[in-house]
Amino acid sequence: MTAVSSEAHLPALDRHRRDEVGQELQATLVELIDLSLLGKQWHWTIAGRPFKPLHEHLDELVDSWRELSDTVAERAAALGFVPDGQSATVSAASGIASIDPGFRDTDTALRELVERLADVTERIRGRMDRLGELDLASQDVLVEVIRELEKQLWMVRSSLPGAA
Ligand SMILES: [Fe+2]
Repeated sequence: MTAVSSEAHLPALDRHRRDEVGQELQATLVELIDLSLLGKQWHWTIAGRPFKPLHEHLDELVDSWRELSDTVAERAAALGFVPDGQSATVSAASGIASIDPGFRDTDTALRELVERLADVTERIRGRMDRLGELDLASQDVLVEVIRELEKQLWMVRSSLPGAA
């Protein structure tokens, strides 16, 4: 096996800057993975009406969070930063609060989802802003993430009881 040690073909950013960008991407990666795990937990544990639309909407969200996590991880790898999406890392590093393991009604699930999605979006927005000074190509990845998460937030917030 050939060691991939040469930095000759890495993007033209100094090592310190690549590492700083990588840390911001890594922090985002673990939260997107954690969101995708939580999304399945809600998918399996909601009860009551409207069951099916939320059950199916959660799977769409999980697919989106998984795709976004892949984009973020691959940007880190392209910079020569090793992305780490292992369960132990996600568990130790994600800032998202876990949810009660029981079944929950759909309104409770929606409120839990809005709260966590809003928190994560705010943290990723901060990282997106910081990346503007470090690497615009990586910032563009987080712009895509934020655009998607804020659209999702609008949609789930609009489903909350009394939102109209
Ligand atoms: Fe399912």
